[in-house]
Amino acid sequence: MSKFIVSKSLGLCGKVEISGAKNAVLPILCACILTEKECVLSSVPPLMDVYAMMDILKALGVKVQYDSVNQIAKIKAERVTKTKEEYEMAGKLRASFLVMGPLLARRQKAKIPLPGGCQIGTRPVDLHLKGFIKLGAKIKQEHGFVMGRCRRLVGSHIYLDFPSVGATENIMMAAVLADGVTVIENAAVEPEIVDLAEFLNKMGAKITDYGTGAITINGVKTLEGANHNVIPDRIEAGTFMVAAAITGGDIFLTNAVPDHLGAITSKLKEANVDIEELAHGIRVCTKGEITAFNLKTMPFPGFPTDLQAVFMSLSTVAKGTSVITETVFENRFLHAGELTRMGADIKIDGRIAVVDGVRKLTATQVKATDLRAGAALVLAAMTAEGETEISDIFHIDRGYCLFEEKLIKLGAKIRRED
Ligand code: UD1
Repeated sequence: MSKFIVSKSLGLCGKVEISGAKNAVLPILCACILTEKECVLSSVPPLMDVYAMMDILKALGVKVQYDSVNQIAKIKAERVTKTKEEYEMAGKLRASFLVMGPLLARRQKAKIPLPGGCQIGTRPVDLHLKGFIKLGAKIKQEHGFVMGRCRRLVGSHIYLDFPSVGATENIMMAAVLADGVTVIENAAVEPEIVDLAEFLNKMGAKITDYGTGAITINGVKTLEGANHNVIPDRIEAGTFMVAAAITGGDIFLTNAVPDHLGAITSKLKEANVDIEELAHGIRVCTKGEITAFNLKTMPFPGFPTDLQAVFMSLSTVAKGTSVITETVFENRFLHAGELTRMGADIKIDGRIAVVDGVRKLTATQVKATDLRAGAALVLAAMTAEGETEISDIFHIDRGYCLFEEKLIKLGAKIRRED
């Protein structure tokens, strides 16, 4: 299994281009199931999760061509020959559940493995299923699979108990081909939802008010093919912003959208980091000492849970005491134990972490427990004395495009060992 060896790398400096967003491209790939015509997607990052989703589509009978150099995918679901997703494939990524809505809409049936929990929480899919039931699907759960059937989906008024990103996407994709009008209330408003809605509208869907808490979908009979350029990855952008902050560096991010990064920019400014939003990118520069900050993860436009881990790394070397509250997932502090092994001073009480900044971290062997935790450890390792060995970095490959290549270009001392 691969690991990263990271040495102290202060003062990262230079330009980094942010790739297409993993969390936008995954639902968009699923949405291609909704039309028999070809869809052409650009800025599709070559990530393990993207390959896994493409394999799922191929197994359903969808034609997928991917040019990883130019990051263009051509998807044609002329025929969707299978409506059952295999457990082995689905187990690779939780977003595999997002084929359920499109399959119900296109083939009126779907048999999808229940995704199960993962390291960061139990991650149920009850909200997705409640939505499908409201649209007229009959749902059964048996032998670890969810089975859905319908004659035709019918528009409905759906209230989500929590603005779940996945449930909003799955229900929106099911509803675009339903008879009549669907309203999703308390819908998620993340930029990835907006990107999916815009892609669906290019296909001929009639979705309005996306990006607000009440999305309206007027069902249409069929959808066409469409071309779409996936939005930049705000989580990757946030990670490189923290890389600049934690190493006392000066990084210019191209292809990052400031409007998607409001919470991150504010938090970094509170931590004494200079941020300049320019026409062609964002400059992040640290001159003084990082100061402690408090943060609470929330649905967008609140602070994203996917950046909680990298900000925790930053807080370990900040001056003073930071309080980090995780409200979205119930068990997303696994990286705290690994950071503590590197000399961080972190106390956890339920969903709250209290971090007392230390003068320095020290290198040791640590393990990436999930995707974002892995990135957090790499950033922490760049401030630590000695060589840090980070194992299980396959998690990082799932969601960061050319992570070490981009860091090396900025001056990081990081190498991969297989
Ligand atoms: C997506 C992102 C993930 C991010 C998360 C929150 C993708 C591929 N993944 O995950 O990176 O961390 O949004 O921003 O886009 N919940 C339920 N019932 C449901 C669905 C969700 O209780 O039916 C709960 C979850 O357990 C979790 C919370 O709602 O505690 C948020 O989950 P959700 O917004 O659905 O996240 P995902 O779509 O899984």
